[in-house]
Amino acid sequence: MPDGVVEAHLLGVRNALGAGWRVLEAGGGALDAVEEAVVVMEDDETFDAGRGSFLNRDGRVQMDALIMDGATLRAGGVGCVERVRNPVRAARKILSESPHVYFVGEGAERFAAEHGVELCANEELVIAREVERLREYQRAEAEDPTSRAKNTREMGHPAPGSEMFAPTTSHDTVGAVALDREGNIAAATSTGGTLNKAPGRLGDSSLIGCGCYADNLSAAVSTTGWGEPIMKLVLAKWTADRVAAGNLPEWAALEAMNYLKQRLNGHGGIIMLNGQGQVGIAHNTPRMAWACKTAHKEESGVERGAA
Ligand code: GLY
Repeated sequence: MPDGVVEAHLLGVRNALGAGWRVLEAGGGALDAVEEAVVVMEDDETFDAGRGSFLNRDGRVQMDALIMDGATLRAGGVGCVERVRNPVRAARKILSESPHVYFVGEGAERFAAEHGVELCANEELVIAREVERLREYQRAEAEDPTSRAKNTREMGHPAPGSEMFAPTTSHDTVGAVALDREGNIAAATSTGGTLNKAPGRLGDSSLIGCGCYADNLSAAVSTTGWGEPIMKLVLAKWTADRVAAGNLPEWAALEAMNYLKQRLNGHGGIIMLNGQGQVGIAHNTPRMAWACKTAHKEESGVERGAA
């Protein structure tokens, strides 16, 4: 996260925190709280989610989202949607109103529309900043076809094999975790994926146990970062399992970021909490915007628990 966008990120996560907190304060459930928090960030062009997302190779926004209820393990996910203004709303409808867990592409959009979720033209989700970012990326790639591999190495990823596709810019996948007064926890994650991704590429964010997981018996977890390594490690579930085994969320989050780095040279961040309200926030990138509120205090920042 370059210096120039730190304030916008902090404002964005604080606004999301406020929206989630208002739900909880009014006696609402954790599931509603994470949905409302993520909607705020999807609507905020600062982040790689909803309007303002990174563009895929074809210049289109293609988004993934998941929401999960720790009390029941019900979950709803959407993948590769292009016309849903708030993918987390569609995911929530799947969780609440479908016997299925996961919809992709056109079927996901049809399900969303049939359940009252607003659709829009893909062009409405595309902003000038991202058109320029994609143009610049593709221009650099055309001028020097080895640039992607070179950038990849500069980011610290091994060059051979699948690592050739490591993204070369920051991620802004968004997520929220919450604990309500009934003692239930929930998590939600939403993303536009990675810059210049191949159409149809699905990341970690909407996959249960990878970019998002919630179980009252362990933890609610949301991850951000380079999706492919996170998927391979099923990282959200891996981290929740460490809490179930008796580790504090704070340590489990740090361990997860070390594991991601050591095992696959992956980069990212994680937010999590358990049913006792113990929180874990960590990242192995230089920065990650976060905000956290309890009955006693409110905090936010762009550095915490750096692994
Ligand atoms: N973590 C977002 C993605 O890789 O799609």
